[in-house]
Amino acid sequence: MRALVTTPGSRFGVTVQEVPDPVPAPDQVLVEVAHSSLNFGEVFRAKSAEAAGEVFGWDASGVVVAAAADGSGPAVGSRVLTFDYGGGWARRRAVAANEVAVVPEGVDLAVASTLPVAGVTALRALRNSGSLLGKRVLITGASGGVGRFAVQLAARAGAHVIANAARGAGLAELGAHEVVASLDDLEPVDVVLDNVGGSHLVRVHELLTTDGVIQSIGWTSGEPAVFPPYSTVALGKRLVGFQAGTGFAPDLAYLLDLLGRGALSVEVGWRGSWEKFDEAAEALLGRKVSGKAVIDLD
Ligand SMILES: NC(=O)c1ccc[n+]([C@@H]2O[C@H](COP(=O)([O-])OP(=O)(O)OC[C@H]3O[C@@H](n4cnc5c(N)ncnc54)[C@H](OP(=O)(O)O)[C@@H]3O)[C@@H](O)[C@H]2O)c1
Repeated sequence: MRALVTTPGSRFGVTVQEVPDPVPAPDQVLVEVAHSSLNFGEVFRAKSAEAAGEVFGWDASGVVVAAAADGSGPAVGSRVLTFDYGGGWARRRAVAANEVAVVPEGVDLAVASTLPVAGVTALRALRNSGSLLGKRVLITGASGGVGRFAVQLAARAGAHVIANAARGAGLAELGAHEVVASLDDLEPVDVVLDNVGGSHLVRVHELLTTDGVIQSIGWTSGEPAVFPPYSTVALGKRLVGFQAGTGFAPDLAYLLDLLGRGALSVEVGWRGSWEKFDEAAEALLGRKVSGKAVIDLD
């Protein structure tokens, strides 16, 4: 089969090559992949991968071509959304049945492919922060993949949502009550989902109420964070290192249901053939994609 394979020395670290088909374990389904959405983390890592021949790719949607031998998971012919830490940028993916959800009729497979890492991260980071009803929730990097889902899900959970992004277009329509390009002059916040790190992290820590929580999700800025002496001491403020984890199937099903009912909106800011991976990667890492980038494995 063909796959995007790590190729050290290439521009964004991967090229399309022939590789052996995956052999599914008894609890895995085999999926013919149609689309994959790109996440900042995997694209960043692929670019600097040192080993050749690895298949990256976390999010993928497609059709089941072999059911799991142990009887778990969807039947042959089912349209599915899948997640795993690798193997998604390939024409065929063997994936555990507990990382697969059936895509409802009427939901486009390319749009569905945007949900796994970005959508589940937004969902779980908010869920980990306790009840959001009436809370002031600040989301940094809100124009990106995780950010756009987080804005919508936080608004849905009853929060007062503050979206922080240089490119704030469309965020109010998704449910943000305030859209801010700068973190100056903000009132204190109860919960922060931080996708940017660096000086943003230092600033949101200053803005946090004494019993508030920061979910440190990502670090797109690539900058160090320099905290003033004693600023992290004594107060009850919590800084939690977020990890998306595994066992995505129930959360994928929840997000797909919202999508199917028109209760979740997806912006695909870049879409094209996987042969144009470098163009997509350049746009994503260069802050030129609004929402998600989707590659078609044509
Ligand atoms: N811990 C986990 O399990 C987990 C899961 C998912 C994602 N992540 C991490 O979370 C972060 C966001 O992921 P994503 O997929 O949502 O990325 P994304 O789609 O690229 O969005 C990130 C957003 O961050 C902002 N940004 C980018 N570069 C920046 C810079 N130099 N300074 C300030 N803001 C910048 C951009 O907004 P503006 O240009 O509009 O400001 C961009 O829309 C990444 O670091 C990713 O690795 C972690």
